[in-house]
This record gives sequence, C-alpha cells and structure tokens, in this order.
Amino acid sequence: MERSSFEVIRRLVQQESAIVLREGKEYLVEARLGPLCKQEGFPSIEALVNALKTRRRVLSGKIVEALTTNETSFFRDIHPFDTMRESVLPELIEARKSVRALDIWCGASSSGQEPVSLGIMIREHFPELADWRIRIVSTDISKEMVARCQSGLYSQLEVARGLPAKLQAKYFRKEGTRWRVIDDVMRLLEYKQMNLAAPFPVMPPKDVIFLRNVLIYFEPRVKAKILQNVHRILKPDGTLFLGTAESTLGLCDGFSPCSYDSTTCYRRAG
Ligand SMILES: C[S@@+](CC[C@H](N)C(=O)[O-])C[C@H]1O[C@@H](n2cnc3c(N)ncnc32)[C@H](O)[C@@H]1O
Repeated sequence: MERSSFEVIRRLVQQESAIVLREGKEYLVEARLGPLCKQEGFPSIEALVNALKTRRRVLSGKIVEALTTNETSFFRDIHPFDTMRESVLPELIEARKSVRALDIWCGASSSGQEPVSLGIMIREHFPELADWRIRIVSTDISKEMVARCQSGLYSQLEVARGLPAKLQAKYFRKEGTRWRVIDDVMRLLEYKQMNLAAPFPVMPPKDVIFLRNVLIYFEPRVKAKILQNVHRILKPDGTLFLGTAESTLGLCDGFSPCSYDSTTCYRRAG
C-alpha cells in the first residue's frame, strides 16, 4: 500500500470514529481492507482510496467497519461481572426498590457478548428482578455488530469462550450449527448504533455503564470528552466499568476510583 493511501485511510478513520491508526499499522490496514476491496470490486487499496473522491459517504462507513477491532467474549475478564453480582447490583436493588427499574448501558458492545452476559447474570442470580423494568442498552459504531447483536445468534466457538456449560444449556437454544439466546434474556436488551466520539444523543440517566476496551483506541482529548459525556449521564450513585487497561485518571476528575477485590470501577466524585 502506498504511504499516501495509508495517510488518507488513517485520517478518514480518525475523523469518522476517532480511532487512531498509528504509524506501523499499515499491515493492519492492508489485511483488513483487502477483503473489502474484493467485495467492492476494487483491484487495490489505491483504487478504493481513489473511489473515495466520489463515493465517500458509502465507502467511509465500510472502511471504518473493516478497521474496528471487535474482540470480545462472554464474561470477559470475569472480575467486573463478579463485582456486579456481589456488590453493585445488590446495592442498586436496595436503592431502587421503590422505583423497581434499572438502566444499564454497554457502550461499544461489539457482537453483544457483554450485554448478554449481564442479562444472563441478572436472570441467573437475581430472581427478585423478574418483574422490574430492566433495560440493558447496548451500542456500537459498527452497523454490522449491531445487527449481529440483534440476531442473538452465536457460533459454537463464541459460546465456548467464557460461557460456563451450565449457563449455555440454560440460556441458549441450538439452532442449526449456532446457538440462540433465549427470549427471557433477549427481552432485557436493546441495540442501537452510536458513535461515542460524536455528540451523545439524549439518553436516560444510567445506573451502570460498561465502557470497556474501547477508550484505548482514542487519543487523550477524545477519551476526556467521552468521559465527560459519560459522567453527565451516569446517575449520582451509578457505577462505571472500564477495561483493565483503561482509567479516568488524568482525563476526567469528575470520577473517583472505587476498588473491589480484583476490580476498579468508577463513581461520580463527591
Ligand atoms: C474490543 S471491542 C470491545 C467489546 C466489549 N466492550 C468488550 O470489552 O469485550 C471494541 C468495540 O468498540 C467499537 N468502537 C470503536 N470505535 C467506536 C466509536 N467511536 N464509537 C462506538 N464504538 C466504537 C468497535 O466497533 C468494537 O466493537
């Protein structure tokens, strides 16, 4: 790939999604855009870049989709889920017993294993929530990922990653070669496309926010802006979970870290 093509792609992806493709990521761009070129009938990345001059709107979304990293798994990094089960949810249930409603948001949920894990955990460990209004909204910039989430279908390989056999048997039904999340869990979930780097849409205040393994792709200025927006929609006693390599430190002083056994989560300071 020519240097100038990498530069065009790098700038486009940063403008559209805030994802930073550093020097040295040329191999990644080549590997990810190769299949897109084939699918769209371009003989090379240079031809794709050239077509951007006339078809930018259609192609830029596809390029961003191709360059997002969608790595995820059920109950990924288990500790935040343990903290939710042992501490955060019991405290919230006590605090919300008069309104009997919980609002959870998974920003950047990729193919949905994170919100589905939360739904399974709620159904498995909190039968007292059966008649509460539970809404787990899950968003991602990728249309393809949102569609995957909505399908509720996972491959054998995907369910084999992180999901205990007992939970697989109880919360999934075999459908051909794939596994479908049962309706009792799907009914807790809502999926939407959302770009975290764009101005946030109007959203109801959240009791819990999972924003894991996505800030790492952005530069500090963008991380800070996103955290300010997240701060605005987190309820005063709400809890924010970030990925293990992420923190609010030096980015947004509206949050205080809050440590549990093996997890640090964040609450609104003061
Ligand atoms: C590594 S996955 C993390 C999935 C899940 N949160 C987890 O921790 O397992 C990162 C996700 O962030 C999404 N993403 C990247 N840039 C984004 C943006 N600007 N707005 C919203 N989502 C974005 C990608 O599409 C991808 O699905």
